[in-house]
Amino acid sequence: MKILTVGGGAREHAMVKALDRSGAEVYATMGNNNPGIAGLAKQVLLEKDTNIDAIADWAVEMEVELGVVGPEAPLGMGISDELERRGIPCASPGRRAAEIETSKEFMRDLMAEHELPGRVEYQVFDDIEELEDFIAHYKGDLVVKPVGLTGGKGVKVMGDHMENRTELFDYSRTVLNENIGGTPRVVLEEKLEGEEFTLQAFTDGEIVVPAPLVQDHKRLYEGDLGPNTGGMGSYSMADGLLPFVDRKTYDESVGIIRATLEAMREEGRAYKGVIYGQFMLTARGPKVIEFNCRWGDPEAMNILPLLKTDYAGLCMGMAKGDISDLKVTFEPKASVCKYIVPEGYGFQSIPGSQLMVDETSIEGVGAELFYASVDARNGAIYTTTSRSLAVVGFASDIEEAERVSERALSHIKGEKIHMRHDIGKPEVIRNKVLRMKTLRGDPV
Ligand code: AMP
Ligand code: GLY
Repeated sequence: MKILTVGGGAREHAMVKALDRSGAEVYATMGNNNPGIAGLAKQVLLEKDTNIDAIADWAVEMEVELGVVGPEAPLGMGISDELERRGIPCASPGRRAAEIETSKEFMRDLMAEHELPGRVEYQVFDDIEELEDFIAHYKGDLVVKPVGLTGGKGVKVMGDHMENRTELFDYSRTVLNENIGGTPRVVLEEKLEGEEFTLQAFTDGEIVVPAPLVQDHKRLYEGDLGPNTGGMGSYSMADGLLPFVDRKTYDESVGIIRATLEAMREEGRAYKGVIYGQFMLTARGPKVIEFNCRWGDPEAMNILPLLKTDYAGLCMGMAKGDISDLKVTFEPKASVCKYIVPEGYGFQSIPGSQLMVDETSIEGVGAELFYASVDARNGAIYTTTSRSLAVVGFASDIEEAERVSERALSHIKGEKIHMRHDIGKPEVIRNKVLRMKTLRGDPV
């Protein structure tokens, strides 16, 4: 099967690897020359992900039979609808369904109007005076979110990124005045306390097949400090749960995704493809932080390598609106993913460093390598301003998977790079479990 993929990050490298494993012929379009994707693809088009007409023209010319899209920006612009207009089914949501990610206001309103479980207190503003009044009277801490897309970097949390209500007001006003996220509207919502986790699921619009849970680490520095990033690394466990998430919470979270997709159907926005739920496990159960209309990055790298089911067939099933015949299974292994990013990432990246990557040794220790925003030039690999590459260690338990990820990192050399070593380390996980128990008032 000839499959178009869109996107040049590590997430898309993981998608292309899985499609390649299922015997698909990949036609990849991406804005940067990702050497991992280029090495597997039959043909490559170097094009910005958001030039959706040029991508659709090329897909028609290449006679692809199916489209699979990685990043949110082209989905928000309607690339899936465009491909389908040209007769190419797509395993990703159309523009109106993608709004579940591209408009935080739409997502929160949907949850409120349908009284969905897992919703939080929130309010949306476009008026500075109303905003000021709300902040002055709200009891409790708040989180500021631009309504539109910011690449995971626009959210600020009181107590973490903002010290007091003055800073909270200043940032909210900046979001409005500077159109951060592309719309002069801002969401203020209650600050949740707890541990975050990611639940991704495959859906054809009705059937929802959940994947193992993953915990991402969005903060730049070890100990979950510093600014939010696109994600610095992540881990998953062999049983599909997390050390602080039991089966009941998992099922409850799947129920929230099911109810949300049903609400989308009722709104005439039937959703197909992979849906990503970011949850906060609070003392009152799982609450929705956000939905994404695609695989998570890095979370795709934890899950896709473990998918035993034919990914190309699964994508075709989602695109055609029927996955009822497919049995989706995963290898029962733990995984630990660690990203290498350029120094200064999160503030002002210093790009252009050469990375020396010993792929054979990385595979030799039981890890997988995923290239992200690197540039391959004259046989060498250089960092850009975004995340560079990721390694993922796999093993029967998390401790060993973490050690494997560290062994893999030792086979990558370069100047002016940064990574978090703490992700998946036993003491870090123990602290998360303890924190959750304390929040719930359980004996520790
Ligand atoms: P988002 O882009 O919505 O995923 O937000 C980025 C990060 O901000 C999340 O991963 C959380 O760490 C934090 N965050 C977002 N919403 C909330 C909330 N309501 N309460 C506490 N933290 C939040
Ligand atoms: N890992 C967060 C995201 O993909 O949005």
